[in-house]
Amino acid sequence: MILAGYVGSCERAWAPQEDKSGQRRAVSRECCSAVCSPNSWCMFGAMSSEQQPDCLHYPATARNREPILEVLRRVLPATGRVVEVGSGSGEHGVFFAEHLPGIVWAPSDPSLEARRSVDAWAKASGLDNIEPAKALDATWDVWPWEQSGAQDRAREVAAIAAINVIHISPWATCLGLLAGAKRLLKPGGVLFLYGPYRRGGRHTAPSNATFDASLRRRDPTWGVRNLEDVQAAAGEAGFALQKVVEMPANNLSVVFGKTK
Ligand SMILES: C[S@@+](CC[C@H](N)C(=O)[O-])C[C@H]1O[C@@H](n2cnc3c(N)ncnc32)[C@H](O)[C@@H]1O
Repeated sequence: MILAGYVGSCERAWAPQEDKSGQRRAVSRECCSAVCSPNSWCMFGAMSSEQQPDCLHYPATARNREPILEVLRRVLPATGRVVEVGSGSGEHGVFFAEHLPGIVWAPSDPSLEARRSVDAWAKASGLDNIEPAKALDATWDVWPWEQSGAQDRAREVAAIAAINVIHISPWATCLGLLAGAKRLLKPGGVLFLYGPYRRGGRHTAPSNATFDASLRRRDPTWGVRNLEDVQAAAGEAGFALQKVVEMPANNLSVVFGKTK
């Protein structure tokens, strides 16, 4: 059975891990030691992995979704399409779509397994304001919403969100995200990033430093980004920093607005 797994500090989602015991397990080296039963968290009542075999379960989404929602309520427009980059399991999408009914959530991920999970969660939710997950690698020169025939829809994109993505991928992902956001968003459009950051080149907590080291061991191109580096790259892409919100577990919500 393939199950969603976590390695790292509390927040940190990783690729799915095999669980030899047959339990849905949050794998951890540090503080995230929870072992969940298959139905320990489910928005839609009892739903076993047998009933919904494509649904991945990332336990951190249950912990961070409420604080993230509170920020999204403040920074997103009441209506419009929100493109999510790196949707992962898709659990965030159904939660935000449920609580932001004026928004149309447009999930995406380069991983087929992730997209299947996103679509399975969306189907189980019964919500009609989640679009089918699109294949998207943020580094692509053309994003699906820009393709021929979709030009008019591209204009509707009000915001782009990337949660726990830019540190668990190469720096090129961040640059691709900014380039795509520049092409897709209108002036005033919102780019929302969530995750751990260094500030002024320094980690904000020992757990983030440990997490950063574990990321770089796993892949030297990954790592906790320096907020000022992201801000500078965003500035070059035409985005101004609007808000930095301190979040639980030493994460930040970082909100940029498109200036032109
Ligand atoms: C740590 S998971 C986060 C998933 C979800 N946003 C969450 O917070 O639970 C990172 C996700 O980013 C995706 N990803 C990695 N590189 C990417 C890229 N270049 N473009 C878009 N998504 C990417 C991965 O496939 C994965 O689903």
